[in-house]
Amino acid sequence: MKKGLLIAFEGIDGSGLTTHSKLLNEKLNKLGYKSIYTKEPTKNEIGSLIQRIILDKEKRIDDNIIALLFAADRLYHLNYGDGINEGILNYINKNYIVIMDRYKYSNMAYQGEDINWINQVNKFAIEADIVIYLDVPLDIALKRISMRSSISIFENRTFLERVKKRYIEVLDLAKRNGVKVISIDEVIDNNEKSIDEVNQEILSKVIMLLKNFE
Ligand code: TYD
Repeated sequence: MKKGLLIAFEGIDGSGLTTHSKLLNEKLNKLGYKSIYTKEPTKNEIGSLIQRIILDKEKRIDDNIIALLFAADRLYHLNYGDGINEGILNYINKNYIVIMDRYKYSNMAYQGEDINWINQVNKFAIEADIVIYLDVPLDIALKRISMRSSISIFENRTFLERVKKRYIEVLDLAKRNGVKVISIDEVIDNNEKSIDEVNQEILSKVIMLLKNFE
């Protein structure tokens, strides 16, 4: 690649973001692309604080504070890293493809009443070049979540239903800001596609788009 690229995976909890973002990274590496996988919230100080807050169902904290923490974690991640790797911007400058397991579009879909305010507090976070939105029916997402050992304050039907609706608005805004959005349906004729099928679909769409950036 002549320039670095930021690819963000987005979707509700239970949509398989971690599985598919890691798989895409592996496949791109095998194909000879310089790519790296990284995740938000991060494992650094701010990210760890966020994890503690969102897993605590007793001590609820104001949503606007949570919104700002996610935005702060993101700016730190961009500039200084996630506690494991260097800052995202360093990789972009070294012409890497950075694959993000969630980015600022999660912030806009999950927090606050006002998407524009969240967009504003993320104004120093560069736009992604490509967003891959994994679209999954709520029932399937909830079934997958129920198999997890720890469940956050966000992982319930009422909240995720709202997040799913918000994503439509968020992706629309991203498109207007020049982001290429790839939307992947994880279900066909009421049947869940296999991980391999979904991965193949993502890979072929990404490879096609990458040609525009080479
Ligand atoms: P986590 O268990 O770290 O990741 P995931 O469920 O995506 O594998 O939980 C992260 C949660 O934080 C997830 O429910 C989405 C949410 N989130 C926000 O609410 N705002 C944000 O800005 C980000 C990045 C994530």
